[in-house]
Amino acid sequence: MKMIKRLSGLNAIVTGGSQGIGKSISLALANEGANVQIFSRNIQNANIVVDQIKLNDGEATAYAVDVCQEDQVYGTINMLIKEFKKIDILVNCVGGFNRFLPVEEVTIPEWDLVMNVNLKSAFIVSKAVIQNMKFNRFGRIINIASIAGSAPNPYAVSYLPYGAAKAGLIGFTKHLAKELGAFEITVNAVSPGTTATERVLLARDANSLERMAELTPLKRLVEPHDTAEAVVFLASMGAGGITGVNLNVNAGVVM
Ligand SMILES: NC(=O)c1ccc[n+]([C@@H]2O[C@H](COP(=O)([O-])OP(=O)(O)OC[C@H]3O[C@@H](n4cnc5c(N)ncnc54)[C@H](OP(=O)(O)O)[C@@H]3O)[C@@H](O)[C@H]2O)c1
Repeated sequence: MKMIKRLSGLNAIVTGGSQGIGKSISLALANEGANVQIFSRNIQNANIVVDQIKLNDGEATAYAVDVCQEDQVYGTINMLIKEFKKIDILVNCVGGFNRFLPVEEVTIPEWDLVMNVNLKSAFIVSKAVIQNMKFNRFGRIINIASIAGSAPNPYAVSYLPYGAAKAGLIGFTKHLAKELGAFEITVNAVSPGTTATERVLLARDANSLERMAELTPLKRLVEPHDTAEAVVFLASMGAGGITGVNLNVNAGVVM
């Protein structure tokens, strides 16, 4: 029996699609038939994901783009628009942080870095695709926020600049959803709970992750594919009536 793919014929961009949660999102979108354009600074890692997608008969290409650099983002997106005519799906997944500091030790450059990576990047990349989505009267923008954007993690140390940036990203999502609704563009956020990606395994110790898992209502941490499934749904035609939502994928830690 032929499987019906939910995203056939759609062009998607996944920023930070080369590893961790973004990698899972790239694989899941491609698995549903989307042609996936992966943005990350390191093109080798992104090409590994592209190869994996192609092995499964999917379509994908990798681009070395620093999403905090407006000229790099516009250069690549304008090229993609020329080639494909339309960008249907944008997943802003770049984000994260690498250390915990008490607030009085957070310097202005550190604050700016976390804000740029987690919030400003989504503004830059969204702005670069919106005109094309408006012209085509279709678009799905999905911002990967975090549990930290709604509340400090009750079971673990949290990082103030990151929480503030992700709260900003949830606000950005709602305001953009209102502004773009008339053009049949939906804008939603997906907020994962702690997920044991390589970056998180470096920033948090294994015991604290195990303790966190035991304390969640679902008795486990969420995995990258849990978030990827939520993204596929929000990108699909079936989610056309949903905009301005922040969808928690956090095993019930924050409800
Ligand atoms: N893991 C968690 O516990 C968790 C929980 C809640 C929310 N989240 C959110 O989920 C997203 C992914 O997290 P993750 O843990 O999967 O992260 P990750 O493993 O560190 O992956 C980050 C991705 O972003 C890319 N990237 C980073 N800075 C970039 C830049 N300036 N320009 C272009 N690409 C850039 C990285 O590739 P390059 O280094 O090659 O550029 C990589 O592909 C983030 O937004 C994070 O805040 C994660």
